[in-house]
Amino acid sequence: MARIILNPELSLGTIDKNIFGQFSEHLGHCIYEGIFVGENSPIPNTHGIRNDVIEALKRIRVPVLRWPGGCFADEYHWEDGIGPREKRKRMVNNNWGGVVEDNSFGTHEFLKLCELIGCEPYICGNVGSGTVRELAEWIEYVNSPSDSSVAQKRWENGRREPWQVKYWGVGNENWGGGGSMRAEYYADVYRRYATYCRNFADKPIYRIACGAGSGDYHWTEVLMREASRMFEGLSLHHYTIPTGDWGKKGSATAFGLDEYYATLARTREMETLLRGHSAIMDRYDPEKKKGLMVDEWGIWTDVEPGTNPGFLYQQNTMRDALLAAVNFDIFAAHCDRVRMANIAQMVNVLQAMILTRGEKMLLTPTYHVFDLYKAHQDAKQLHTTVLCDAVGSESWKTPQLSASASEKESKITLTLSNLSADAPVKVQIEGLAVSFARGRILSGAYNQYNDFEGEQLAVKDFDGLTIKDSRLQIDLPPCCVAAVEIERG
Ligand code: AHR
Repeated sequence: MARIILNPELSLGTIDKNIFGQFSEHLGHCIYEGIFVGENSPIPNTHGIRNDVIEALKRIRVPVLRWPGGCFADEYHWEDGIGPREKRKRMVNNNWGGVVEDNSFGTHEFLKLCELIGCEPYICGNVGSGTVRELAEWIEYVNSPSDSSVAQKRWENGRREPWQVKYWGVGNENWGGGGSMRAEYYADVYRRYATYCRNFADKPIYRIACGAGSGDYHWTEVLMREASRMFEGLSLHHYTIPTGDWGKKGSATAFGLDEYYATLARTREMETLLRGHSAIMDRYDPEKKKGLMVDEWGIWTDVEPGTNPGFLYQQNTMRDALLAAVNFDIFAAHCDRVRMANIAQMVNVLQAMILTRGEKMLLTPTYHVFDLYKAHQDAKQLHTTVLCDAVGSESWKTPQLSASASEKESKITLTLSNLSADAPVKVQIEGLAVSFARGRILSGAYNQYNDFEGEQLAVKDFDGLTIKDSRLQIDLPPCCVAAVEIERG
């Protein structure tokens, strides 16, 4: 029998709700078709934004949404995306398929989307090919309550009140697509940009500097040493590649058990990365005032056969669901430093919550994990120890269980996953007396997915809970993610 020991007396603090954030880039069919169809579309919409997508995202309580990229951000000039749509500039999206971007979805449309979903916007500025003035004026356009010419342009475009956007990114992957800079050079560039990222109406903005890709600890060291007094958050990007080979990443659906376990074992590298980057940050910021923002993460596979390779469209199986759960558990265990995470990406790109085809929409297994974990948003993290066997193939092993727990308004939520593709497991919960428990679960075959013909995978009530002498036992089926709400005895 496996054991999970909860210690309600020991906590690292709050699990920031922004850990369950999303990312939407002008890439493939994420924005266009996936989110924005235009007011004249036969697909039911509000201000051009799909109603079905809005409703689905509201259900998982998306806390924060990053936009417009990614790589796209460092070629994006915000003034091309405001004003009458028919007059907006048409540009080539050089990063993603070379398609023409007509800028019909710009600042006003993005902020309307956030308002409709009920989430905070997080705007990423252009450092690679933009200017200091451009970013300074974007912030002024969005946040200034004055009647400056820049703010008046906002009024002319139909918005009198400033939006007061808090989260601003200063560039994206500036070590790569965002300008191929060295850490030392970017740190100085960052300081220059940040000097002009101003606060309006006494509402301080939260500046996020471009951080490392995966294990580039030198980048974190230099940024913390040279620029941390001028940022509130430092980002980190890390993707899980099933084969570990960027040239041939592996299929999203046609994989065997060995690749299934390889992916789940590999994704635990997030733990190593968070430890490594946090240790550097701790030296410069022992009080943990600066946030580590994992603003791109998730599984990256080969695209679906027959789709545009530049559109990064991939299906989503139970493997993705487990990978999301494992990463959430890791973020929760580092919630004293990790203040935001944005899965890549929200709709139709990489590890998506939602896939669309014309007027049809489906919810992926990953979507359901966000649903199962939503009780953790802004809850008190509880120390969780997992004692279990390893499972896997001959070449790849991983602990069978992953779990995290939190407490809010006297209710404890335990989320736990069984990573074994074929073996159920009994789990004894220790450390607290239990008077009541109820659960919900997502389970299926390791390579199962939802398609447009029918959604077999969905969250169901979970009947594998037994309380005996105030002790909770959980019977998990193979390949599942569950959320259990617990009342103390
Ligand atoms: O999410 C897809 C791309 O991955 C982003 O545009 C970029 O930041 C990263 O390399």
